[in-house]
Amino acid sequence: MSSEHPPGDRGREKWREDFPFTSAGEDEVTRREFVRYLTLGSAGAALGSLALAGMTQVRVPAERVPTPIVDLDDIPVAGSHLFRYPTDDDPAIIIRPTQDELLGYSQRCTHLACVVHYEHDDQELICPCHHGIFDARDGRNTAGPPPRPLNRIDLEVREGVVWAVGGGGH
Ligand code: FES
Repeated sequence: MSSEHPPGDRGREKWREDFPFTSAGEDEVTRREFVRYLTLGSAGAALGSLALAGMTQVRVPAERVPTPIVDLDDIPVAGSHLFRYPTDDDPAIIIRPTQDELLGYSQRCTHLACVVHYEHDDQELICPCHHGIFDARDGRNTAGPPPRPLNRIDLEVREGVVWAVGGGGH
């Protein structure tokens, strides 16, 4: 009777030659695969988180749609009117330093986005958060930490109504 196995290897099954992993070896392969899948899964989750964070940080510029804001007669001389433009998330202010003068600004401070308010006597827009000051006549940052002027909002008066027609936002 001939043997399929060399001497000393007697009793070893044929399938072991075709599939030479032991139980311990199989566990090791499984563990290795598990670690690989875990690593790939973690990397995928990290990339997904980064992509999500990026999407929330990138703001698509809002479209500037001409919008009626307020009747001119409802803005007192030496006073202001608050509104939102170009979106409901963008606080904005119209100031009326004189009878014939209207100026529109984003109300967001250019430092850390607190809202500014109008001080007519000093002709300034003041940010209370860190004492930022802007010139009310042109929006220039004149004191405190704000790094740049307020964003202007373009205004037009149409048949007694003040319209926002551009600018504003961040
Ligand atoms: S947020 Fe306006 S000065 Fe800091």
